[in-house]
Amino acid sequence: MKRKRIKINYGNLCLLLIIIFALTFISYYTYKIISNDETKTEEKTEKKEESKLSKLGFNKNEIKKIETNMKKEEIEKIDKYNKNLAEYSEVKYFHLENIERYDNLKEKNDYSTEEIIMRVNTRIDKPFYTDITTVENPDDPFVLVNKYYSLDKDYTPSDLINVGGNQRMKKEAGEALIKMIEDVKNNGMYLQAQSGYRDYDLQTRLYNGYVSSHGQEEADTFSARPGSSEHQTGLAIDVSKDGYLSKEFENTNEFKWLNENAHKYGFILRYPKDKIYITGYDYEPWHYRYV
Ligand code: DAL
Ligand code: ZN
Repeated sequence: MKRKRIKINYGNLCLLLIIIFALTFISYYTYKIISNDETKTEEKTEKKEESKLSKLGFNKNEIKKIETNMKKEEIEKIDKYNKNLAEYSEVKYFHLENIERYDNLKEKNDYSTEEIIMRVNTRIDKPFYTDITTVENPDDPFVLVNKYYSLDKDYTPSDLINVGGNQRMKKEAGEALIKMIEDVKNNGMYLQAQSGYRDYDLQTRLYNGYVSSHGQEEADTFSARPGSSEHQTGLAIDVSKDGYLSKEFENTNEFKWLNENAHKYGFILRYPKDKIYITGYDYEPWHYRYV
C-alpha cells in the first residue's frame, strides 16, 4: 500500500497560528476591560450611596446597619439625618414613612423599639377613631376593620349563608362555623350562633342605643361605631351556650374547647383580655373572627 504524502505549507501554517494568537489576545483583553468596567460601575453606585448617607451625617456603624436592613429603594428615600433610624431599621416591620411618629412616641415613653414600631404601625399612637381609612378590600377574608379602618355604609357581603340561630355569615366563614359548632356538639357540649352579620343600619341602632343608656365613652368600650364593626364584614360571630353574651362564658368547657380548637377552623378570639389597649374593646370571650 502506498501512503499519500501530505504537503505542509509552512507559510500558511504560520499565518494561521499568528491569527489564532492575535484573536485570543484580543478576546482576553476585551473581556478584562469590560469586566473591570462593570466592577467599577458597581463600586461607584455603592460609593455614591455611602457618601449620600455620610453626607447626611450618618456614621459608619449606622450606615452599615441601614444598608444591611433596608432595601436600596428605601435608602434612596432617606433625605435627612435621624439618630434613631439605624436602630428602627433593625425591626422587621419598620416603615420609613412613619419615622416622625416613631420619634414622637420614643420621646414621650420608655417603650422598646419593637413596641414603638408596633404601636405606630397599628395606629394606636393616635386616639381611636382618628384618621379613619375606608377599607378597599371588604371581601378579603383578611380585611382589617377596627377603630381606624372602616367599611363603607353600603357594604354588604354578597355571599351570606344561614348559620343557625337566625344568623348569617359570609359563606366561607359560615361553613367553618357550622363545622365547628357540629364538632362542639360531637364532644358533648353546646354552642350556638348568637350574632353574626349585622348591616350598617342595625349597628347604628345598637350603638346609638348604648350611647343613650351608657354614654358614649362607655359605649365605645364594648360597641363599635357604625362602619367600624367586624360584624358588618360577615366574618365575625358572637357565640353562646345559653343565649346570653356574658363574661361568665369564659368559665365554660365550651370556651376552653374553643381556646384549644377554634384556630383549626380559622377562628381567633378577637378581643382578648390583654389586648384592650390595642383593640379598644373590653374583653369579649364570645366574639370570634374568621381569618
Ligand atoms: N361588640 C363589637 C366590638 C362590635 O360592636 O362590633
Ligand atoms: Zn361581636
